Amino acid sequence: MTEKIEKLMSEIESLAAKNAEEAEALRIKYLGKKGEITALMNDFRNVPAEQKREIGQKLNILKTAVQNKINELKEAAEVQQNAGSSVDLTRTPYPVSLGTRHPLTIVKNEIVDIFSRLGFTLAEGPEVEDDWHVYSSMNFADDHPARDMQDTFFVESHPDIILRSHTSSVQARVMEKTQPPIRVICPGRVYRNEAISARAHCFFHQVEGLYIDKNVSFTDLKQVLLLFAQEMFGPDTKIRLRPSYFPFTEPSAEMDISCHLCGGKGCSFCKHTGWVEILGCGMVDPAVLEANGIDSTIYTGYAFGMGIERITNLKYQVKDLRMFSENDIRFLDEFTSAN
Ligand code: PHE
Repeated sequence: MTEKIEKLMSEIESLAAKNAEEAEALRIKYLGKKGEITALMNDFRNVPAEQKREIGQKLNILKTAVQNKINELKEAAEVQQNAGSSVDLTRTPYPVSLGTRHPLTIVKNEIVDIFSRLGFTLAEGPEVEDDWHVYSSMNFADDHPARDMQDTFFVESHPDIILRSHTSSVQARVMEKTQPPIRVICPGRVYRNEAISARAHCFFHQVEGLYIDKNVSFTDLKQVLLLFAQEMFGPDTKIRLRPSYFPFTEPSAEMDISCHLCGGKGCSFCKHTGWVEILGCGMVDPAVLEANGIDSTIYTGYAFGMGIERITNLKYQVKDLRMFSENDIRFLDEFTSAN
């Protein structure tokens, strides 16, 4: 028995297999039901008792050695087979795509960044609002057309709970909690009941700003907006203010910037006027200050509001508003930002 074990021991050292099938054949030859080592194991019961310990140990060593050798041969055969196939396991992986920020987020961050350098702090509020914060506190008369079903989304037909149609509601929430000086910038999503097309959507994004203190004047407003326009669209950008109307500001204005594509000379983008509209603004109506608990005999303020989609379109000439919410990766991949 010992001799047999030793013979097999030296035999297995030189075992070789060209492929996995040959390695399997060797396993059957030694360890299969009728294998040589299995036969030895079966004979073990005939070994005299005084030799059992020594021979048992040798047999176990032999069995483990054969198992290890055959596993090695199988692994080697597998590596060889993969090397010959089209799968190259040593190849470095494709670089992982990190993704990019959404263009509206990039532009929103840029706007917020400019105003925070001017001392404005960020304020946010709920998208599902009550009529008071969206309309009544903002001096909208009860029969103002903006409250009409055409514009406002109501929550489960409840006349008082609505989806905010502008972020002025956040300003109302800041005013009712804080006494001046107030200097806040309020970005957020707003909803209006409009048919979806290339030029309109039922939701879009705004940034509104509010500044209230003693002696705040229209000049302050104009200077801050000029600074914003030049930071956003370049140092040569000019602004102009046209008289307008909003229920919550008096006087009110709409602001144009010189067309940054043609530099104000006139092109198809600015409809040959040299100017493009970017925001609405004005001095906060004293009635709004009073409705929100601020003494209008002591304080004055200005407010402005702009659509982020509009600013993004001006910067990147996105022709169709729907692109912003379709999540087409080819569109989103075109935008990269440092922040
Ligand atoms: N809330 C206005 C809108 O949604 C924008 C605006 C804000 C205009 C502040 C003037 C002052 O259209």
